[in-house]
Amino acid sequence: MSEQNLYHPVTIGNTQIKGNLFLAPLAGYTDVPFRSLCIEMGADMTFTEMVSAEGLFREGDKTLALLQRAPNEKEYSVQLFMGNTDSLPGALEQLQSYNPTFIDINCGCPVPKVTKTGAGSAMMKNPPLITEIVRMITRALPIPVSVKFRTGWDANSENYLEFAQAALDGGASMLTLHARTRSQGYAPFADWSKLNTLKEYCLQKGHDVPIFGSGDLFHAQDVKRMLQETGVDGVMLARGAMGNPFIFQQARDILAGKEERIISLEERISVILRHLDLMIDHYGEQSACIQMRKHTCSYLKGIANTSAIKQEIVKAGRREDYLLAMQRLQASC
Ligand SMILES: Cc1cc2nc3c(=O)[nH]c(=O)nc-3n(C[C@H](O)[C@H](O)[C@H](O)COP(=O)(O)O)c2cc1C
Repeated sequence: MSEQNLYHPVTIGNTQIKGNLFLAPLAGYTDVPFRSLCIEMGADMTFTEMVSAEGLFREGDKTLALLQRAPNEKEYSVQLFMGNTDSLPGALEQLQSYNPTFIDINCGCPVPKVTKTGAGSAMMKNPPLITEIVRMITRALPIPVSVKFRTGWDANSENYLEFAQAALDGGASMLTLHARTRSQGYAPFADWSKLNTLKEYCLQKGHDVPIFGSGDLFHAQDVKRMLQETGVDGVMLARGAMGNPFIFQQARDILAGKEERIISLEERISVILRHLDLMIDHYGEQSACIQMRKHTCSYLKGIANTSAIKQEIVKAGRREDYLLAMQRLQASC
């Protein structure tokens, strides 16, 4: 594909999204403040953390909190997980008032607590269930459905094409492949050639739905490489965005043929403090300062001589503690 059209709008069902750089769902990370920040920094679409359909049906407070939308989230998508359809009608009733742009179904989570219920990547063992789930949603709500899945449960049971077909049979409007099996977890490398195969398969079968790629997008250059090498329509950034929301703008620049912008320490510090303030607005100072510790350590990853600052951060309990730590960081570099 030629360079100038690697960044482009995508149509998902009846909705056009202005670009193809999405923030992936990340349990424990993609909360309202982080999604908001990633939008400020160039993400074209965001997803909630994975939300239990059963928890939604039961109206659990923690589950409902995951559905909150950031003020700048004009578009947002809700990711659901379930191992059967029992709670789905009730969950969809709850979901209606949130009016998500689309609903994504998690078929990739490898965590045993999730897979033992038949949900997450265990769905890969049950293609007819994904057909049924997608069909039930598309019949109940005028909202497009997407499916995020892996290449299979393990190396001996790779069935991503069969699974993609099952999702499309139910009426899925978009597919995202995390190009690893469940047994691989998050390492070693994702096999991007399977993204090519999936894209080719869908074209051959006449399914003109956007195919997104996920796996090993750690640098802005990886985004360009995946779009160029695999022919996918868009990408979902995951670990590459943790402590690094700059990646969206950097990727946009590279896709526009510009140089990759180097992020200065001043800019990094100012984004850490912006992130902290978004967290404080959302959670209040005490909870925000505790939760911000992990994000800050991610922002400082790879910066030399920050171990003393990190030790301060893991004890930070007030906004003031972060300000002091950031002043010390600035002075030490
Ligand atoms: C901490 C963490 C939480 C994740 N949570 C979710 C999730 O809630 N839903 C989901 O579909 N994938 C989830 N994923 C998978 C990512 O969205 C992504 O597919 C995967 O990390 C591969 O991309 P990467 O190699 O670029 O990180 C998670 C991954 C990590 C590391």
